[in-house]
Amino acid sequence: MNRPIVRHAPVVGRVPHLLHGGDYNPDQWRSTKETTWREDMRLARLAGINTLSVGIFAWAALEPEEGRYDFGWLDEILDLMAEHDITAVLATPTGARPGWMSRAYPEVLRVNRDRTRNRHGGRHNHCLTSPVYREKTTAINTALAERYKDHPALGVWHLSNEYGGECHCDLCQERFRAYLQDRFDSLDDLNEAWWSAFWAKTYADWSHIESPSEHGRGEQDIHGLELEWRRFTTEQFVDFYLHETAPLKAITPDVPCTTNLMGTYPGIDYFRLAQVLDVVSWDSYPEWTGTAKDADRGARASFLHDLTRSLKGKPFMLMESSPSATNWRPVAKLHRPGVHLLQSLQAVAHGSDTVQYFQFRKGRGGSEKFHGAVVDHQGTEHTRVFKDVAEVGARLAQLDGVVGTDTPADVAVVYDWHLRWALDEQKGLLQQRTDYEGAVIAHYRAFWEQGVPTDVIDSSLIARPGHLDRYKVLVAPMLYMLRPGVAEAIDAFVQRGGTFVATYATGYVDEHDRTFLGGFPGPLRETLGIWAEEIDALYPEDRNAIEWNGTSYEAVELCELIHAETAEAVGAYGADFYAGRPALTVNRRGEGKAYFIAARTGADFLADFYGALVAEAGVERAVDADLPAGVTAQVRTDGTTDHVFLLNFTPAPAAVEVGGAPVELGPFGTAVVERPRA
Ligand code: GLA
Ligand code: ZN
Repeated sequence: MNRPIVRHAPVVGRVPHLLHGGDYNPDQWRSTKETTWREDMRLARLAGINTLSVGIFAWAALEPEEGRYDFGWLDEILDLMAEHDITAVLATPTGARPGWMSRAYPEVLRVNRDRTRNRHGGRHNHCLTSPVYREKTTAINTALAERYKDHPALGVWHLSNEYGGECHCDLCQERFRAYLQDRFDSLDDLNEAWWSAFWAKTYADWSHIESPSEHGRGEQDIHGLELEWRRFTTEQFVDFYLHETAPLKAITPDVPCTTNLMGTYPGIDYFRLAQVLDVVSWDSYPEWTGTAKDADRGARASFLHDLTRSLKGKPFMLMESSPSATNWRPVAKLHRPGVHLLQSLQAVAHGSDTVQYFQFRKGRGGSEKFHGAVVDHQGTEHTRVFKDVAEVGARLAQLDGVVGTDTPADVAVVYDWHLRWALDEQKGLLQQRTDYEGAVIAHYRAFWEQGVPTDVIDSSLIARPGHLDRYKVLVAPMLYMLRPGVAEAIDAFVQRGGTFVATYATGYVDEHDRTFLGGFPGPLRETLGIWAEEIDALYPEDRNAIEWNGTSYEAVELCELIHAETAEAVGAYGADFYAGRPALTVNRRGEGKAYFIAARTGADFLADFYGALVAEAGVERAVDADLPAGVTAQVRTDGTTDHVFLLNFTPAPAAVEVGGAPVELGPFGTAVVERPRA
């Protein structure tokens, strides 16, 4: 590891434990509060729960009429929580709003891409620009902060809920144009950046610019417009978050603020949004099957945890997960025995300091009445799920030593929202099957299977001065877009001795989605020592091969036809008119190496390639042993003691050697082993 180990403070300074709990909606149980609320406290303690998230979507209960607040019920529940030593993650209620507001001020209702205005209903259904919505938000958030600033239960502010969507109303259009005027020096610059002469789309006046629309969109295809719209939408959420937190920061400056993210949700660049959060939190709902397929699900969930942690490079909160079935999945499968503990320890292994659920008590009505919950409709602790949750509570209580610990990684895999936006829009390559996220996870998984701790970073972190110094290996599948400073930082990383791995579809476009001229991979051509002349897209049934190290590996979907310039060809295509041409190259540059994998391959190639690379680059693994398929190992450390998490994502038992001693893992089994840090 090339950077010092850091021990972070607990999320809630006064609570030196992993937090365990979740969304709790006492406002839905006010008519039976005398019995239900007290019973909830007893059950929570019994399950080892030390935190509950309250107030999410409670605006109608908090402000039943415009300007008339009712905090009585929240006073009572927060007092009860304090009495039972339960920390409150207190939400601002802005994820959904009361009906009076939509009726009195239609401007708060969101407008869709097709320019229709929504009716009242659903959630996340508000305009982020609307002065009325912003004013009402400030008022309720201020009132909440004033009332509870000294409340002993208050631990974390939970802003709104799962920010998402976009608004195309006239107010937002104006704001979009203002954003563009800020971003571009002149309209000519914008036209040039957007290549708007294509199909006569040149803008003659700023006022002619509109957000992307579904009507006419097929003909429009100005990719720069779509790209800037998504950047703008991200900035809208950043701005709205800052607006929402302003009164909280003024009144309770020491209480950390967060909003719950959603993995790789495409609508917001989370690396940007995370800059303004105090602590990152997210909602994880893996699609467990109870079969051997859960190795795939496990790898993906681990990737999402690593991505979330890497947004700020410090412990995060698992704000929501299901203790059992997830009702919105097409198949609401129950967690098999062991799976609940497995998914919970998995989050901690990757850097979460909390395990939280949606939700504590299952509601009687509404569309989520069949979603998994700690307390079922049956209402007692005598359920399988409750016992699963209590088991997690007991295990987490033994892991105080993990709180705030670091997750050191020698390897970074790149996942970038702007790049994804551009790839999603491009017409060429494979269109519907471009699958950027899948490609990134395939490469990530080769490290996961070796128990190699991995960060997941984007272009903004690559370009941050000095940031790459901490890594030995940087892997950037399909680095299609090169934002400013990225190629330079990667080249410097290689020159200093780093190992860089790039693939097909690298270095095609700049930050405005205009192609580079003079040969792909554009500004990375010298670093990689290749010229990518053409790319072949394969039909699903087509196959080519990469011949490497005496083995023939399947190549599928995308095969790039490259020339090795300063690079050495170490693998070749096996078939078609480009048989024998380079398919895998390495360019020795400065003290380091830059590899190029020209085609999409299966997991077999990636496992062998990265197996060799991990050994060659001297990358740290969590345990010094081969792991059985579907089992991973991850480490959290304070610099003195390592906590090694062993996680079996298969329905069969498995064994792993840690420091020479075998550790047995049951089906979907887990173990946490302590050892002194080497
Ligand atoms: C999301 C939301 C919750 C709830 C859960 C159900 O994560 O934030 O309010 O709807 O999904 O899985
Ligand atoms: Zn709007």
